[in-house]
Amino acid sequence: MQNSNSMMKKFFLVAVSLLFIVACSKDDNPVDSGYKPPGDNLDAFEQNKLLGRGINLGNALEALNEGDWGVTLQSEYFQLISDVGFNSVRIPIKWSAHALEISPYTIQESFFDRIDWAIESVLNKNMAVVINIHHYDEIMNDPNGHKERFLAIWKQISERYKSYPKELFFEILNEPHSNLTASLWNQFLAEAVTEIRKENPYRTLIIGLAEWGGPGALNNLRLPENENNIIVSFHYYNPFHFTHQGAEWVDGSNAWLGTKWSNTNSERNEIQNEFDGIVAWAGVRNVPLNLGEFGVYSTADMQSRILWTAFVSQHATLYGISWHYWEFCAGFGVYDLQTNSWREGLLDALLPPLPKIAGEIFYGSQN
Ligand code: BGC
Repeated sequence: MQNSNSMMKKFFLVAVSLLFIVACSKDDNPVDSGYKPPGDNLDAFEQNKLLGRGINLGNALEALNEGDWGVTLQSEYFQLISDVGFNSVRIPIKWSAHALEISPYTIQESFFDRIDWAIESVLNKNMAVVINIHHYDEIMNDPNGHKERFLAIWKQISERYKSYPKELFFEILNEPHSNLTASLWNQFLAEAVTEIRKENPYRTLIIGLAEWGGPGALNNLRLPENENNIIVSFHYYNPFHFTHQGAEWVDGSNAWLGTKWSNTNSERNEIQNEFDGIVAWAGVRNVPLNLGEFGVYSTADMQSRILWTAFVSQHATLYGISWHYWEFCAGFGVYDLQTNSWREGLLDALLPPLPKIAGEIFYGSQN
């Protein structure tokens, strides 16, 4: 028997989650037509609702050359993503492979044209879009040697897209790590924000975390001063031995093959405790949260992938955290390029009908 307190709590949480999801619904957020630049009174929490439930277009523009990792963006992908109801798309971009090595670090015009097309393809489907700097490997090894170039790349991006609508978000750098330590990251991000603000005073900016973007680095993050139009983003791949079993780029991960995630109380509690810490951190600072990447590699069994993906995404939604699943159609893909079809179980885990969200979270497996 459930006591009345716990019933009340469940009712309250269901109501909060439904409100967030309704706020994310596309009908409520038509994209401004005509590329009206963002106005000066943007509320980052409202902006976060535009991101809502989204997906990464991974393994395409963050490869050395688009197509190297098996994904070349096609215009029908944007239609597919929009049709199933995602609110936004995060596009990881390896600008560093398409900019001069020496000052003024000019970005190739043909690459910029391709990014214009990708951004506009998302906006034209009434979804919001996040662009970032992804896989800037050299800055991780030699941060100070690449700082000037990093800021020059942002200067060019910022100028290029200054008149784009508020549905375009800039994310400063994906997963700082190695020699780009947490304290250096605080300096670099502050300088990048200052650079971007020259041309984009009102654009909503997304700031990720040092040490590969995981929540462990939250306490080291120093938010830029005098800024309230920012969203803090974290990545979530825990338990890592489960989500990255057999991942070719993770040494030793073959030993983890066969690891399952069965939606037990203790498995759920681990995730829930981490999310509680993240939400508490953000609450104190009054800053909205985005879960910019989460997913399970295809080497795990499908049932475990579905259970974990459902729990993490729905838990984020419940807390008002916007999210982007990693990713559309490659190794973590929710879409199968071979058969040109969605992996229904995963898709349903990500974008379930509303009553199902409440049902699975509150009345799901009790083991
Ligand atoms: C990386 C991807 C990787 C994913 C999961 C992303 O940040 O860019 O290459 O597949 O994390 O490890």
